[in-house]
Amino acid sequence: MNSPKEWLERATEILRDGGVPSPRWDAEILLGQVLGCRRGDLSFLLRRWRAEVRKVGDRQVGDRTGGLATGEEREDTVWNSRVAERYWALVQRRAAREPLQHLCGSWDFMGLELAVDRRALIPRPETEVLVETVVRRLKEMAAEKSADSAGGPPLAADVGTGTGAIALALAHFCPEFRILGTDISADALDLASANALHLGLSERVEFAMGDLLKPVEAWLGRRRQAAHSAGPSGTRLPGEAAGLVALVSNPPYIPTADVASLQPEVALHDPRVALDGGADGLDFYRRLIPRALALLRQGDGKSPATAEREGHSRRGGDRLGGLCAVEVGSGQAPEVAALFRQAGYNNISVTKDLSGVDRVVLGHRA
Ligand SMILES: C[S@@+](CC[C@H](N)C(=O)[O-])C[C@H]1O[C@@H](n2cnc3c(N)ncnc32)[C@H](O)[C@@H]1O
Repeated sequence: MNSPKEWLERATEILRDGGVPSPRWDAEILLGQVLGCRRGDLSFLLRRWRAEVRKVGDRQVGDRTGGLATGEEREDTVWNSRVAERYWALVQRRAAREPLQHLCGSWDFMGLELAVDRRALIPRPETEVLVETVVRRLKEMAAEKSADSAGGPPLAADVGTGTGAIALALAHFCPEFRILGTDISADALDLASANALHLGLSERVEFAMGDLLKPVEAWLGRRRQAAHSAGPSGTRLPGEAAGLVALVSNPPYIPTADVASLQPEVALHDPRVALDGGADGLDFYRRLIPRALALLRQGDGKSPATAEREGHSRRGGDRLGGLCAVEVGSGQAPEVAALFRQAGYNNISVTKDLSGVDRVVLGHRA
C-alpha cells in the first residue's frame, strides 16, 4: 500500500467490517487527524504531502540507499515511518467502535471546538437545534421592552452541562449574558471548565456541581444578595434580582431498558449518568419543569389570550417572562409539553430537528 488512496480504501474496509455506519467518512476524518487537518482540507493536504514526501524521501532514503530507491519506495518509506503506526492504531480502535470524536479528542459544536472524552456525553447535532431555538427567542426578547436594560447582565443556566456545549454556545452567541452550567458529575465539570478556558469564555460562564436545580438556586441567591447589598446609589442590579431569562437543559432521556441496546459508541463510551432518564425516560422533566418556573424572570403578567383581547401581540412591546427550553427524545414532546402546561407556563412551542423529529420544547413564565 503505497498511496493515500489505497490507505483510505483499506481503512474503509476494516471499518465496514467492524460495523461502523459511515466507514469512508470515518477513514478520512482519522487520516485528517494524523495529518493535522480537517476532512475538507484532506485532498489538498494529500497533494501537498505527496510533494513533501518526495522531497523528504529524496533526502532520507537517498542517504540510506545511496540514491538507489525508486520514487514509490521512497514514498512508502516515509508514509510508513511517519504516519502509518498512528493511523492504523486509530483505525483499529474505531473498528472496535470507540467513538470517532474520542479518537479525535475534540469536536465541533456550533463552530466551537470542544474537547471531548469519556468524562461527558459527546454533544449531538440535535442539541444545536436546542441552542439555535433558544438564541433566536432570546434575540426576539431582547428587542422587547426590558426592565433588565436598567442594569445587570441577563442570566441563564444550562442544567446538566456535560462538556459545557450549551452554556458555552449561549455565551458565544449572546455575549451580554452571564451563564451558569451545572452537573452532578465532577468529571464533566472539569472538562466543561477546560473548554470554557480554551474558548476564552470563563469570565462569563461559571460551573457548579449539584443535583438538578440546587446549584442554580444557590447561584441566583448569591447574586440577588450581592445586588441588594450593592447599596442605594444606583449600583443595584435589577436584572440580577429578577431571575433567569433562560433555563436550558438537555437532560438524560433514554428509558432505562433501552440504554444497553444503544449503539456501542454510546452504550459503552458515553457516561451512563448522561443517558438514563428512568423507566419512561421522563424522570428529569418531571423534576425540572415545575421547579424551574419560580427561577425565571416574570413577564408582564398578560397571557397570550389577554394580549389578543387587548388587540396587540407580544411583539408589540409586552415583555415575555423567562424561558425554559429542553431537548427531548423521539416521541416524548407531547408528554413534555403537557408537563409545561400543567406547571403553568405559557407560549409553549415545539421545534423539530433536521430529521423532522419534535426535538425542543420551550415555554415561558407568565
Ligand atoms: C444528555 S447529557 C447532556 C450533556 C450536554 N448538556 C449536551 O447537551 O451535550 C445529560 C447531563 O446531565 C447530567 N446529569 C445527570 N443527572 C443529573 C442531575 N441529577 N443533576 C444535574 N445533572 C445531571 C449528566 O452528568 C450529563 O452531563
